[in-house]
Amino acid sequence: MDAFADVEDTGLDDDARDAFHRDVVAGLSAAPKTLPCKWLYDVRGSALFEEITHLDEYYPTRTELALLADIAGDLGAALPARAWVVEFGSGSSRKSDLFLNALTDLRGYVPIDVAGDFLEAAAAALADRLPHLHVVPVVGDFTAEIPLPPMLDDAPTVGFFPGSTIGNFEPAQAARFLARARRMLGDNAHMVVGVDLKKDLGVLLPAYDDAKGVTADFNLNLLDRINRELGGGFDRDRFAHRVRYDDDEGRVEMHLESTVDQTVRIDGHAFDFRAGETIHTENSYKYAVDDFHRVAGGAGWQAARHWTDADDLFSIHLLAAA
Ligand code: AVJ
Repeated sequence: MDAFADVEDTGLDDDARDAFHRDVVAGLSAAPKTLPCKWLYDVRGSALFEEITHLDEYYPTRTELALLADIAGDLGAALPARAWVVEFGSGSSRKSDLFLNALTDLRGYVPIDVAGDFLEAAAAALADRLPHLHVVPVVGDFTAEIPLPPMLDDAPTVGFFPGSTIGNFEPAQAARFLARARRMLGDNAHMVVGVDLKKDLGVLLPAYDDAKGVTADFNLNLLDRINRELGGGFDRDRFAHRVRYDDDEGRVEMHLESTVDQTVRIDGHAFDFRAGETIHTENSYKYAVDDFHRVAGGAGWQAARHWTDADDLFSIHLLAAA
């Protein structure tokens, strides 16, 4: 009955594994071939991403953290007291702690994440660090509209979406996400969003193609994951990590390029690759300040303030419900 009976148990539930299987078959059947970037983050992929955030070439994480620390006073003064913070995707505890500590007399914290186990562990760790904070984790996919806990009532809310995760969306998807967040957070809402800026390619491209090859490993791990979880037959030595900047779209693209003509079999399906053909695995959109203001403005948010670091690498935007 189970088509995956011989496949190693990786902790993905059946629904998630079916969704992964569907996305892989559809994406590798398409022309050009593509795979959704969310599948990069299995346990190994998440560990590799964490390693990426510490690389010399990967400027976003350390720049955003330093900027958040710098502007904590400004943020605390600009945001309402007694607010609920709602974090979309409970990612890095370093950022959450900085942000939560910046706010005055916080009412509580609602981290939203699809990964229930991860969320529980993160919430428990946070309760240790900030014992007086009221934490109400919500398990769900923040790219869909999910109801917030009723105790938020009409208290002020502050959405927090750091990390330039918004850059993984197409601009139209980013606008839909922000409009949904606006509806979820209510009329008494603010939103703080970390957004990576457009910049010189000499700085931008190495951030996605580091000398140690950690990002290559992160990208190629997707092939290993397909092998592990779907019984795929990829040979990762016949693919190469490729990064390019699309100037019209304003985005960094990650691809996996087939280095030879080959056929790869996955669970009864066969996929042909020509030498040089790629699987497009990720987009990371970059926004000048005005670009982002346009997207946010179209989604019911007023640009209240923004901050950038001294080198103009990264921006943090404060939006207010319009
Ligand atoms: C997690 C989406 C912010 O786009 O910079 C890092 C992901 N991909 N290196 C980014 C990523 C390759 C990262 N985000």
